[in-house]
Amino acid sequence: MTEKFIVGIGGTTRGGSSTELLVRAVLDACARQGAKVEMFGAKELVALPFYAPENEERSDAQRHFIDSVRRADGLVIGSPGYHAGISALVKNAIDLMQDTMTDKRVYLDGCPVGLVVSAAGWQATGTTLSSLRDIVCSLRGWPTPVGVTMNSLQQKPFDADGKLIDDALSTMIESQAKQLMGFGYA
Ligand SMILES: Cc1cc2nc3c(=O)[nH]c(=O)nc-3n(C[C@H](O)[C@H](O)[C@H](O)COP(=O)(O)O)c2cc1C
Repeated sequence: MTEKFIVGIGGTTRGGSSTELLVRAVLDACARQGAKVEMFGAKELVALPFYAPENEERSDAQRHFIDSVRRADGLVIGSPGYHAGISALVKNAIDLMQDTMTDKRVYLDGCPVGLVVSAAGWQATGTTLSSLRDIVCSLRGWPTPVGVTMNSLQQKPFDADGKLIDDALSTMIESQAKQLMGFGYA
């Protein structure tokens, strides 16, 4: 079987971003299941210029990002819940996927997408996850049945080194990774 390539996108500029740590945790689980992985965290996302539909020029960072998305067998997209929805930093990267509109694989057609949200309340985890699912469907991607959410006011799932130490979240992350890795689309 050929090695799967899974791309992670997400995080906030805050040091130790829980969103970014969750996305990385899903990628780590995919890697344990045999995938090659690449992460676009806040550092990489900040380097993407603001998406402008009339501008066809692409920076190296934009070209690299789109090339990875094009090659991906699966994606993990993580966002904080900002005002009950996804953050501008993450949405800017998603907007750039418009470049794949005329590809042989249009947008994320046939591509499984694991979704991850961190918010300071359960209501925003739900609304943001739902919003991410709608966005992925509009890009013809397949949101995995398992979405991963955490409430950063109530949960402290990482140790000081950013290692996941929460059993319930670990189970959800392993399940999502299994769904990403096992996805088949004829
Ligand atoms: C601009 C902004 C808006 C936010 N809006 C909400 C919100 O509507 N609901 C909520 O529960 N948390 C909200 N939060 C809190 C973040 O979702 C929360 O701190 C999240 O865990 C941040 O993830 P991080 O650890 O990756 O930075 C907001 C935070 C910021 C900075």
